[in-house]
Amino acid sequence: MTTERDYVLGTHDEELARLGLQHRVWRSVVLDCWQRAGITVGKRVLDIGAGPGYAAVDLAEIVGPTGEVIAIERSKNFVDAMEDACRVRSLTNVKIHELDLMADELPKGDYDFSWCRWVVSFVNDPALLIKKLADVMQKSSVAIFHEYGHYETWHFLPRLANQERFREHVIATWRESGGEPDGAARLPTLLAANGFFIRSVTPHIFCLRPADYMWQWPATFIEIYLPRLIEMGRIDQKFADTLRADLARTEAGPNSLMITPLVLEIVAEKL
Ligand SMILES: C[S@@+](CC[C@H](N)C(=O)[O-])C[C@H]1O[C@@H](n2cnc3c(N)ncnc32)[C@H](O)[C@@H]1O
Repeated sequence: MTTERDYVLGTHDEELARLGLQHRVWRSVVLDCWQRAGITVGKRVLDIGAGPGYAAVDLAEIVGPTGEVIAIERSKNFVDAMEDACRVRSLTNVKIHELDLMADELPKGDYDFSWCRWVVSFVNDPALLIKKLADVMQKSSVAIFHEYGHYETWHFLPRLANQERFREHVIATWRESGGEPDGAARLPTLLAANGFFIRSVTPHIFCLRPADYMWQWPATFIEIYLPRLIEMGRIDQKFADTLRADLARTEAGPNSLMITPLVLEIVAEKL
């Protein structure tokens, strides 16, 4: 029996659902990115740190039965969810590997693309990950990343001191777990050093109002990560309740705004 391999954000059911909402909120941006990068019918895509497979099933539908998605994920809970998602959609073109990106080798394959989103922030050696990626990507294949470039851009207007404290706890806990929130920062250098040409680097940052669908993305993250921070002994219940009340007041304000954490889209071609 394989035991669950958790990480700083957790792999519990609420986090699994949050990743689904996060994918739906970002879906239009992601579909546009994949199309611009050239993902189409018949292509082979390596999905690195695929989570419960929300992007993997979209990719599998895009590449169709003549293409393939090879998904890598360490969490058994997420692998099980991904298998269920494929079964429900009768997808037979997704191969799932339950493995650790740091400890294990990446499966070899004639990949046309790789896709990696919100994973570099959580591995303890991004240089090793990019080296492993370079080893399996063939000439002219394309590596695509959506990773945080500057997490501290995340704030509300008018500013919420407690949310900014929360954000600093988030950054500290990710670092304590061996990660680095601004995972995209080193990527261009690491990719270039491993034989990739950087085709484009595109910032994705949004200024949201409470009625915008995307508002739900950071808002649900706060809701799910507050109990985690209590468990870690970083905050107490009073802080969590105060931030929840601040957030509710902000959401009710017709002129409230939220600036999202900056995500960098990096598209690189293997030379
Ligand atoms: C924030 S989630 C993102 C999931 C997915 N890429 C998405 O965009 O929905 C980060 C994922 O990376 C996985 N992960 C973290 N470290 C890993 C490692 N060393 N090996 C394999 N997967 C890892 C986690 O289990 C989790 O599923």
